[in-house]
This record gives sequence, structure tokens and C-alpha cells, in this order.
Amino acid sequence: MDLKKQAALHALQYIRSGNVIGLGSGSTMALFIKALGASLKSGELSDIVAVPTSEETAQQAREVGVKLSTLDECERLDVAIDGADEVDNNLNLIKGLGRALLREKVVATHADEFIIIVDKTKLVSRLGTRGPLPIEVVSFAVDSQIRWLTQLGCVAELWLSDNGLALLTDNGNPIVRCWFDDGIDNPKHLAALIKSRTGIVEHGLFLDMATKVIVAHETRITEMESAR
Ligand code: A5P
Repeated sequence: MDLKKQAALHALQYIRSGNVIGLGSGSTMALFIKALGASLKSGELSDIVAVPTSEETAQQAREVGVKLSTLDECERLDVAIDGADEVDNNLNLIKGLGRALLREKVVATHADEFIIIVDKTKLVSRLGTRGPLPIEVVSFAVDSQIRWLTQLGCVAELWLSDNGLALLTDNGNPIVRCWFDDGIDNPKHLAALIKSRTGIVEHGLFLDMATKVIVAHETRITEMESAR
């Protein structure tokens, strides 16, 4: 079975009937949502209400009969489930290469548990070594943000679609992707720096947020845990 699917199926055991849950975005989450829909259909789970982190996730959830809500209606979530682009040994993450990082971060901060589902290819010893760090910015003065990000020691580029236009998030903002040659030296310091810059909306570093990471390997599933 596909490793992403194995991680997704494993995560279902952490959902209880009556839970209010956050639904992340991406291909691993699509598999989770499908499995969740099947559990609702079979009666294994019932009364689940979900807050989606993207229009795509909302659509996938609707298609399989998951009842949707918003953070305006649900003050707290029992659990949020999401994928990730990179996971280090301390359960710190890079997320957002599905362009949903802002809503994913907002939803995760409302959840009692934040469970990440990945295949083993997402594991890294240093964040920023597998791919770029995505950063959502306002569309006003994007070049100024790119120049500022570049002086942090990365190659920063506006994320473009095949037709050469900026790819936008569901919030209507462009994303700058930042490549670090040898990965990110001090994620906490970098996160604080980026956060302090006016015009940057959010970054894809999810530090000290995940409470559990479910990792699918060829022959087994492992879990990494942290007390948040
Ligand atoms: C969405 O913006 C991302 O944070 C995803 O969680 C991440 O890109 C993982 O996606 P896949 O499950 O498709 O690998």
C-alpha cells in the first residue's frame, strides 16, 4: 500500500465520534479525508465536524459527506490532522508547499492535538534540506520582500505557475520560496526574524506545534511524540 495512505489510515484511530477536527491540505490529507468519509459511511465514526484549511480540502470533505464548520463556530478543535513537507527529529516542520500554510497554522493553533501524517521521505535531520521554505507575503511590494529574504542567506523566488503568473493562496496572496544551501541553521531565530517583517503574512516553519508525527516506512508505522 502507498506509504502516504498507510500514515493516513493509521491516524484515523485518533479520531473519536463527536470530535471537532481540523483538516489539513495536500495529497496525504486527501487520502485521510477519503478514509474518514468511509468510516462515516460505515458508521464506525459519527457526528464529526471538520474545519478545512483550504478550498480543495473543503471540496474533498464535502464529496465524502464530512460536515464542515469554521473557527468562528468552533472555539476549540479536539485534533487537527495535517501533512508536512519536512519533519525534523524534534517534530519541527516545514509546511506550505500545498500553499495552505496560513490557514493550516491558524487551524493548528486552535487544536488540542496536532497530528502530522507523512511518509518516511519527509524526515530530515535539518529543516530546509529537502526543499524550499514557503513564505506567504502580501502582493504589495513583493520584490522588496524577496530582497529582504535574500539577505537572510537564501535564494528567494516568487512562486510562479507554468503561465508565468504568481501562484496565489486561498487568501489571494503570493508565495515566496526560499532555498537554503545547507538547510536552516537556527529555525527559531529565522522564524522570529521573518515574523517581525511587515508585509510578510506567514512562514512555513511550524515549530513546537506538532504533538504527534505518524511516519509510514515500508515495513512499519512509527510515531514521534511531543508534549506541546
Ligand atoms: C499544504 O500547504 C502543505 O502544508 C502540506 O501539508 C504539505 O505540502 C504536504 O503535502 P503532501 O501530503 O501532498 O505531501
